[in-house]
Amino acid sequence: MTFRPRYTGLIDKYRDRLPVHDDTRIISLGEGNTPLIRLQNIPRELGKDVDIYVKYEGLNPTGSFKDRGMTMAVTKAVEAGSKAIICASTGNTSAAAAAYAARAGITAFVLIPDGKIAMGKMAQAMMYGAVTIQIKGNFDDGMQLVKEVAEHAPVTIVNSINPYRLQGQKTAAFEIIEELGHAPDYHCLPVGNAGNVTAHWIGYCEYSCSSGDHVTEACAYCGGKCKFAGGAITGKRPKMVGYQAAGSAPFMRGGPVKEPETVATAIRIGNPQSWDQAWKVQKESGGWFDECTDELILAAQKLLAEREGIFCEPASATSLAGAMRDIQSGKIPEGSSIVCTLTGNGLKDPDTAIKQSTSPVVSIDAELDAVKRAIFENTII
Ligand code: F0G
Repeated sequence: MTFRPRYTGLIDKYRDRLPVHDDTRIISLGEGNTPLIRLQNIPRELGKDVDIYVKYEGLNPTGSFKDRGMTMAVTKAVEAGSKAIICASTGNTSAAAAAYAARAGITAFVLIPDGKIAMGKMAQAMMYGAVTIQIKGNFDDGMQLVKEVAEHAPVTIVNSINPYRLQGQKTAAFEIIEELGHAPDYHCLPVGNAGNVTAHWIGYCEYSCSSGDHVTEACAYCGGKCKFAGGAITGKRPKMVGYQAAGSAPFMRGGPVKEPETVATAIRIGNPQSWDQAWKVQKESGGWFDECTDELILAAQKLLAEREGIFCEPASATSLAGAMRDIQSGKIPEGSSIVCTLTGNGLKDPDTAIKQSTSPVVSIDAELDAVKRAIFENTII
């Protein structure tokens, strides 16, 4: 019998492609290595010849892709001697920051919009022991405050403006290439601050570099030095497609949105921090931005759960919602391979899920006849 070595997280796995030293103390919870699941039923129902894969980032230790960035950001903060980290968050960053701070033995301060984050995320920040600061404002207000307070207090910002966050998150692109053997034709993501779309592009670019020296922050976009022919494993990069919620779609409006609103609270952001980088990604990759209504987002979330058995949070379903629409219209042509990132786990936001579910739930007496009736009445032949 052969044993595989224990998986110990993405920094250990991609150590030579990340800015860490041999003696760096790695703060990890075994993040990364998430499943890339090929959809079976939805493409058939669409009636289109496409390969759709979902990268199920909801299976990270705190239930979202943020863990990829947070292992790097907290590792580097601890290496620099920091005793406290801070972030503004719509819920997932705060959950990840709180968990990795607990692991490292440092303090996490998290600023969240009062009453506007999903219940599971709130529970996480509290259980992991963060100092939770609820503000009467939105994510963008929180981000501004975090930047200001970090100028006066000895705290390290772990939002995606921290470059180590993107370094960690780029590893999702590495994993996809290693599993498929090549980059997909299209990579679809939900967009809030646009950190993740930027990070994936860094990852795809680095993986297609042949020089092998694009390892640190300086690598961002490889400065045009990539040689795609004869590159590492892949000779191609995907078109990057970013979908926003219609009520929070600054990339579609051409500038900040003052009062962003959407049921997908994770991407309820009006003033993206990676604005310039994301436009650069769009241009370089030949992709596009678009928006999805809340109705379309929720329908995609429900469809994915009901047809494929995959439960993601509303914001995550934005990638699939947009992709399905663009496949149907032909903008994404038949014959394409498409990866949709499912950024967060559906369990994060049980309220929204329960509210929109139409599956039968019956309450009966604990008697055999009543059970039989419930089965009979709810059997679809
Ligand atoms: N999907 C989920 C589930 C998220 O939590 C976020 C961002 C995004 C998508 C968008 O990613 O900002 O890199 O474009 N959540 C942040 C947070 C803002 O505070 O948890 P992005």
